[in-house]
Amino acid sequence: MLSKRARDMAPSMTLGINAKVKSLEAEGKTIIDLSIGEPDFLTPDVAKEAGKAAIDNNMTRYGPASGSLALRETIAKKLKEENGVEYAPTDIVVTSGAKHALTIALTALLDPGDEVIIPVPYWVSYPEIVKLVEGVPVFVKGKKEKDFKLTFEEVAPYLSEKTKAIILTNPSNPTGAVYFKDELEALVVPLVEKGLMILSDEIYERQVYDGDFVSVASLSPEIKAHTILINGLSKSAAMTGWRIGYTATEPKLAKVLGDISSHLVSHPSTVSQEAARAALESAQPDMKHRREKYKERRDYILDFLKDVPGIGCVAPEGAFYVFLDISSVRDKVKAESLSLQVCEDLLDKHQVALVPGIGFGADDFLRLSYAASMDDIKEALARIKIYMEQAQ
Ligand SMILES: Cc1ncc(COP(=O)(O)O)c(C=O)c1O
Repeated sequence: MLSKRARDMAPSMTLGINAKVKSLEAEGKTIIDLSIGEPDFLTPDVAKEAGKAAIDNNMTRYGPASGSLALRETIAKKLKEENGVEYAPTDIVVTSGAKHALTIALTALLDPGDEVIIPVPYWVSYPEIVKLVEGVPVFVKGKKEKDFKLTFEEVAPYLSEKTKAIILTNPSNPTGAVYFKDELEALVVPLVEKGLMILSDEIYERQVYDGDFVSVASLSPEIKAHTILINGLSKSAAMTGWRIGYTATEPKLAKVLGDISSHLVSHPSTVSQEAARAALESAQPDMKHRREKYKERRDYILDFLKDVPGIGCVAPEGAFYVFLDISSVRDKVKAESLSLQVCEDLLDKHQVALVPGIGFGADDFLRLSYAASMDDIKEALARIKIYMEQAQ
C-alpha cells in the first residue's frame, strides 16, 4: 500500500544512531555521544521569556501563513545588517525549521523528473527531500584535497536540460567546509547564467572560524534573484526544538512558498515565532561566546588528531563537525560499509557514538560533532585513538 516514494526513502542515519544510543543507555551503559547535530548550549533566556510572554498574552491562535509580520521584519533587518542583503518582510516565509523551508522550496521548483545538483558529501536529508517531491538528486563528488568544495568546471558535466537547482550548504554539514567569497562567486555566477536556482542553506552561517561568511544572495542582484536563501534558529540560537526556520527570495516566489506552506502546516507555532524574534534581536553577545567555544574545541581536536594513527581530516572552517577520514583501515575492517562497521565497533566496544559517513554519501568517513563538552570530546578522542591503534 505504500507509494514508491515512501518505499524508496532512506531512514535518517543520524536519528537511527540516536535511537541506538538511547537503547544502550537504557541498558545502563554510559555513551559519549558525538553524533548529534545540536548545540550543547541552551536556548537564550530572552527567547524563553518571550515564548512564555506569548503564551500569557494569548498569542496562541492562527496567524499569517508566511509568519508574523513582526518576525519577518526582524529577519529582514537581520539579513540586511548581518548579511548585507536587502529583502522586504514580504520576501520572507517563516517555516517550521529549515527542513520545512527546503521542502517548500523544492516543491515550488520541481516537476517530476527535474534534477537537483547535490554536492557530496551532503547533509542526509537533501536527497530524501528531493525524492519526496519527485525530483532526481544528481550527486557531484567533492575532492578531499580541495576541502570538498566544488568548482563550476566540476559541476558542469552533470548539468542537463532538466537541472533546475543546486543545493549549497555553506558552511557544510558534514565537512565544515566554507565557500568564501571568491570560491562562491566562481561557482555560482556561471550556474546562474545557465538559469539554475541556488538553494543556499546557511544554517551554520554564525559558526565560521577562519574568515568572513558571505551569503550568496549578497553577491549580486542577478544571483539574489536566483537564490532561495534558507536559514533558521536551530543552530545559531540553540533553538532546535522550537522549530523555526525561514526562506528569503524574490516576492513572487515568496508568495508561492507561503501558499504551499499554508496548505502543509498553516504556519509555524506562534509561540516559537515570538521566541525566535527575541533571539534574533538579541543574540549577538551569546553568539560570540559560543563561536569562541566551538573554535577552541575544533582546534583541540585538530591538534589531537595529529597523533592518531590512520586518521585524516580536512580542517573545518565552520559548523561544528569534523569529518574523519578512516580509509586507512578499509583493508583491515572487512565490511560492506566501512563507516557503518567502524561506528558500530566504536559504539559497542568503546561507547562512543559518531555518524557513519555513508549517510552523507562518503563511506570512507565518520562525522564527529563537537557540539559537546570539552571533557566528553577529550575522552571520546582518547577512545578513538585506542581503536585506531588497534586497527592498524
Ligand atoms: C545543513 C542543515 N540544514 C538544515 C538542517 C535542519 O535544521 P532545522 O532544525 O531548522 O530543520 C540541519 C540540521 O541538522 C542541517 O545540518
